[in-house]
Amino acid sequence: MKAIYPGSFDPPTNGHLDLIERGSKIFDELVVAILRNPEKDPLFSVSDRRSMLEAMTGGFENVSVDTFDGLTIDYAVRVEASAILRGIRAISDYEYELQMALMNRKLQPGLETVFMMPAEKYSYLSSRLVREIATLGGNIDCLVPELVAQKLHAKMDPAHKFEIAERGEKSSERKSRSRRKKS
Ligand code: PNS
Repeated sequence: MKAIYPGSFDPPTNGHLDLIERGSKIFDELVVAILRNPEKDPLFSVSDRRSMLEAMTGGFENVSVDTFDGLTIDYAVRVEASAILRGIRAISDYEYELQMALMNRKLQPGLETVFMMPAEKYSYLSSRLVREIATLGGNIDCLVPELVAQKLHAKMDPAHKFEIAERGEKSSERKSRSRRKKS
């Protein structure tokens, strides 16, 4: 059975890697599929995320990395996958994941969503928290693979931090301009 593991992976964490390893054991083929989302302002470019995930998963013979845009179900059909793999860390994930799984099933009944739980030690780990901790100067070394930590450290160089802050300001300017237009 072929499955896709869709997500933002901004950045990929040890929790993602744990789930990929588990998924690679139960599926014949697993495609880690990075969403190209023009509406989000990611910390890492899609090509950076792709290269990090490729390096992280190089040791798994049946795992590949790809990018997609549009609906996850359309991508799954295109690559002839019959399952979507998603991780559930805690009850707080459940509502969102259930809604997404049921909607995907409504849109594409032949496609199953399979939930797996990462190791308990990763149950509190998220890309959003990793980004926040790294941005505020905290230690993320045991939360992400070494090469991701290196990329994060490089991003947190003063020059990069300035660039990120500028992007943040521009994005909030854009949002308040569009809010003003709507009202
Ligand atoms: O890592 P994330 O951000 O939790 O992943 C969410 C993702 C990419 C799986 C979800 O946003 C998604 O499937 N987006 C693609 C658009 C889509 O199919 N939307 C309908 C979902 S019911």
